[in-house]
Amino acid sequence: MSAGTEAFARLAPLPADALLALIALCRADLRTEKIDVGVGVYRDEAGATTVLRAVKAAEDRLVAEQSSKAYLGAEGDQRFIELLAPIVFGDGTNQPPRFGLQTPGGTGALRLGAELLARTAPGARVWIGTPTWPNHAPIFAEAGLTPAFHPYYDATSGGIAFNAMLEALHAAMPGDAVLLHGCSHNPTGTELSIDEWRAVAAVCTGRGLLPFVDLAYQGLGTGLEEDVAGTRLLLDSVPDALVAYSCDKNFAVYRERVGALWIQTRNPARVAIARDNLLALARSLWSMPPDHGAATVRIVLDDPDLADMWRVELATMRQRLNSVRTALAVAHPGLAGIAAQRGLFSLLPITSQAVTTLREAHGIYMADNARINVAGLNAANLARFTDALTPFLDGDQFRNRFSASSPGR
Ligand code: LMR
Repeated sequence: MSAGTEAFARLAPLPADALLALIALCRADLRTEKIDVGVGVYRDEAGATTVLRAVKAAEDRLVAEQSSKAYLGAEGDQRFIELLAPIVFGDGTNQPPRFGLQTPGGTGALRLGAELLARTAPGARVWIGTPTWPNHAPIFAEAGLTPAFHPYYDATSGGIAFNAMLEALHAAMPGDAVLLHGCSHNPTGTELSIDEWRAVAAVCTGRGLLPFVDLAYQGLGTGLEEDVAGTRLLLDSVPDALVAYSCDKNFAVYRERVGALWIQTRNPARVAIARDNLLALARSLWSMPPDHGAATVRIVLDDPDLADMWRVELATMRQRLNSVRTALAVAHPGLAGIAAQRGLFSLLPITSQAVTTLREAHGIYMADNARINVAGLNAANLARFTDALTPFLDGDQFRNRFSASSPGR
């Protein structure tokens, strides 16, 4: 760089991140009747995102009893990983060799897994079903991998475009990776059936594809066990896999950034090498993950009473989400498919123009692709929400979409 050259002159201006911009827009709206179905955080019936009681009790204990804040190491809190593993993978004794480490949120886990992949297969393709969480493709691209897209959701039926997905995976090349949402798909709320997981596992094994499961909502769909049944079936069938996990939603510790990454490979010698590579990569990315959130989750899971309390609170969140889904499905035939979907999100069958009108005229805030966070709805605002939505659902072009006869799940 010669004297007088501007150091950052080649940086291009960027549009704001759409979801983060939506949070700011909603915050700035002074209408008391506004409805926030935007960013994916759980809200209770009063619209609040509270700290879980089990988490609060664990935090109190942590503050009272923690005697040192000295470094733990690049792997983070190992007891946290040890306690979380059976919740994710089950208690079975015949588990394949795995290594797991704590990461800053599910995003940190995805990025770390992507960096590992880029080391072993530079530029490898990562198949991503569309639509997906807007951060998925950038995470892989920034790590030097090549995002490739296949259909996942069929907007016409409101169900999964499974044949098109499978066809794309059959055409994938050995060594490609496949990103799979473990449960409660973001943004559609649709989930693969067990038979579909089986078929995906078969194509991964047959074509030599590496599954990379993103599990960010365990327990917020159908149940803690049910939500990982497909992932477990897959992991039982494939030799190698990566699993990115987030506790941010199911423990409601969003800003604490609590996550984990596991690598599975049938070759125990390879696990040790992967471990060394993951620790070296983590060291260069963030050196050590932040401690407080993972230590809190560890205390919850290490205490049977707190763990029970957490399971009950998680069930309460899940039941509320599913009751809002039922209420939406009852409110309008065009929303019938939402009842069978799971997790925080559903994609409404409306245009982005309708999304803008709902925001400007009614103070209803949803993502531009018409994704709603169903947790933003409650007894006080649901009728107002569906009344405002109805004219857009009744338009001719959407009449048959998302109807009760569609294969939404
Ligand atoms: C969402 O999809 O709304 C959340 O996962 C928040 C985020 O980081 O985008």
